[in-house]
Amino acid sequence: MTKVDDTGPSYPDLSGFDLPADKLAQIKAMQEAEKRSLMARKAELEECECREGMFPNPIASRRSLFAGAAAAVAAGALPVIARADAPPGAIEFDVPDDSTKVQGRLTNDDGGYGSRSQFEDEVRWRFPTATKESSWTMTPLAAGMGIITPSGLHFERHHGGIPTINPANHTLTVHGMCKTPKKYTMADLKRFPSESRVHFIECSGNGLTEFLKPNLKTVQGTHGLTSTSEWTGVPLSTILAEVGVEPGAAWILAEGADAAVMTRSVPIDKAWSDAMLVYGQNGEAIRPEQGYPLRLLLPGFEGNTHIKWLRRLEISDKPFMTREETSKYTDVVKDGKARQFTFMMEAKSVVTFPSGEMKLPGPGFYEITGIAWSGRGRIKDVEVTTDGGKTWHYASMQGPILPIAHTRFRFPWMWDGNPALIASRCIDETGYMQPTIAQINEVRGVNGSAKYGSIYHLNGIMAWAVAADGTVTNAAHQV
Ligand code: CO
Repeated sequence: MTKVDDTGPSYPDLSGFDLPADKLAQIKAMQEAEKRSLMARKAELEECECREGMFPNPIASRRSLFAGAAAAVAAGALPVIARADAPPGAIEFDVPDDSTKVQGRLTNDDGGYGSRSQFEDEVRWRFPTATKESSWTMTPLAAGMGIITPSGLHFERHHGGIPTINPANHTLTVHGMCKTPKKYTMADLKRFPSESRVHFIECSGNGLTEFLKPNLKTVQGTHGLTSTSEWTGVPLSTILAEVGVEPGAAWILAEGADAAVMTRSVPIDKAWSDAMLVYGQNGEAIRPEQGYPLRLLLPGFEGNTHIKWLRRLEISDKPFMTREETSKYTDVVKDGKARQFTFMMEAKSVVTFPSGEMKLPGPGFYEITGIAWSGRGRIKDVEVTTDGGKTWHYASMQGPILPIAHTRFRFPWMWDGNPALIASRCIDETGYMQPTIAQINEVRGVNGSAKYGSIYHLNGIMAWAVAADGTVTNAAHQV
């Protein structure tokens, strides 16, 4: 292993911002997590021939070294041997010099459930909290294609670890202000007519490191707490009709079966409109870390409210004032008052290519691309600037353009080799336009200042600076 430069990338010192110790520690931990992942990548690059080019891939290059070994056995009928050191989700196989001269792997020898290529190594990385039970991971958005996040790369947020639940024993109790309280098994729930919808889920803490100044290096670090899946399940309204909600009911408590017994209060209007009880994700059972066997889906609401491992719904005439809606997930604004129940994830967009830590090999044509989303509905337009906001141009949007889902945008760009400042901004179908970070701080107060300022709901415009040598860096606040 090549020795790594211990110092690594440098991050801004935020001690001058009068941050409370816990917020400063949180941001420092985020910096550390990203730094570790970047330095591991750097070490891999240093020991391979693949440093140049737009998408240097040490995994692909290093693994081609096995070709010689494979060729030695190519003439015979020896089975290829799976190696242990493949990236997560992959299996390591020998690589033949010429794949047309040797039989390939045996059909269904994977046991009937496939794995990704050994040359693909994108993974979530974890925020280094004190314990691994209460932590979160970020989706690698820079490598994303289209609008769907692979289930295994969907960001996570856990407060008491990932429970192991046998669906045969799992039930959902619905009670409180209703005529007929009921307890449903998973089999019961699957008998109701189902629906499938594509929606993003975004943690309201997505971007919390970026309120004050450009901070994390990569789009995975600055924006990786959002992911989009196709979700399948039962409209919650179906179940509410079944139990007979009583007049005066206004809120529902949703409770998870994890060790944290995560609870949030949900307005009953949301429950009646588009809320779902989901058991499917991207065409198969929902992943354990996403709430297996049952999750509450509240399209457009902050991620914390989409209660995973859902076991209980209690109907009431008032909110329940749980920990997660009093001491956490509230927003202290400029005048010292706190906003509570700030559910909506407003319109937001980000350029994912080019983005931080990439290097453009030279002047010429590039396709700028990224994603835009809004908790209020469809994205109507996305604009892109390459001159730091002096001029904006409409990007083309790739279909399908679905409500409350990531929407892929593209913009052709001829780079002349001069320093450039790239950013995107979007407008949703309600007419809401993505603001600048400065505009957000002006209204809410600066995040993390010792007095006031939210760490949640940063949906401001994100910028990336392209230097003359092609290196791309975080330029938040510059547009
Ligand atoms: Co909120």
